[in-house]
Amino acid sequence: MSSPLPRGEQKARVVRGLFDSISPRYDLVNRVMTFGMDIGWRRRAVRELHLPAGSRVFDLACGTGDLCREIERAGHLAYGFDFSFGMLANARTDAPVVQADILRLPIDDATADGVTCGFALRNVVSLPELFAEVARVLRPGGAVALLETSSPDNRVLRLGHRLYFEKAVPVIGGLLSDRDAYAYLPRSMAYLPPPEELLAMFRVEGFPSARRIQLSGGVAQLLVGVRG
Ligand SMILES: C[S@@+](CC[C@H](N)C(=O)[O-])C[C@H]1O[C@@H](n2cnc3c(N)ncnc32)[C@H](O)[C@@H]1O
Repeated sequence: MSSPLPRGEQKARVVRGLFDSISPRYDLVNRVMTFGMDIGWRRRAVRELHLPAGSRVFDLACGTGDLCREIERAGHLAYGFDFSFGMLANARTDAPVVQADILRLPIDDATADGVTCGFALRNVVSLPELFAEVARVLRPGGAVALLETSSPDNRVLRLGHRLYFEKAVPVIGGLLSDRDAYAYLPRSMAYLPPPEELLAMFRVEGFPSARRIQLSGGVAQLLVGVRG
C-alpha cells in the first residue's frame, strides 16, 4: 500500500523538494508526457484572459517559465513567482521571476490586470487560500486563468487516461528523470476536489461568474474568471 499523501507544511516541503530535483528535465518530460499538448493549453490560458496588450500579468507557480513566455508572446508584461529555486534556476524566460510562496505573495493589493497559474492547484497546501490570494492581487475587473490536469467525463476515456497516468507516466518519468517524482504526480490528483466543488470554491473567493473549460477531451481543465 502506498503511503498517505502529505498535508500542511510537510506537503509544501515535499512539493518544493520534488520540483527542485526534477527541474533540470522538467520541460522535456512535460513535452513527451503530454505529446506536446501542454504548449497549446498554456496558449489557450493566456488567450482566455482577454486582456489588451501591455497588461500586467502575474504567473503564479511559474516553474521554468513556459507561461511567462506565452504571456510575453501575447504582448503583455509577465512576472513569475515560484518557491522552487531549482525551477527558477532552469527558467527560460526574459520575464522577472521571484522566489515566493504563491499563498503569500510579496505584492500589494489590486496590482495585477491578469493572473495565470499552470498545473499547481494540486500542489498548494490550501486552494481557498490560493484563490483568495489571486483575488487580493487582482484589480477589480482583472482576469484569471488557472490551468490544471483533469480526468475526462467519458468513462472509456477516463479509464484510458487513468492507465496512462498511473502506469505510463512513472515509466516515462523514470526513463527521462525521476521515477518516484513522476509516480507522485498521478497520486497528487487526489488533492483536487471534483470539478463542481472546485469551481464553487473558486467562485466564492471573488470570482462569481467563473467557468470551467475542458481541454483535449477533458485531460486538462481551465478555470477562468473576472475579479468581481
Ligand atoms: C507542475 S509545476 C508547473 C510549472 C509551470 N506553471 C508550468 O506550467 O509548467 C508546479 C510548480 O508549482 C510550484 N509551487 C507549488 N506550490 C507552490 C507554492 N506554494 N508557492 C510557489 N510555488 C509553488 C512548484 O515549485 C512548481 O514549479
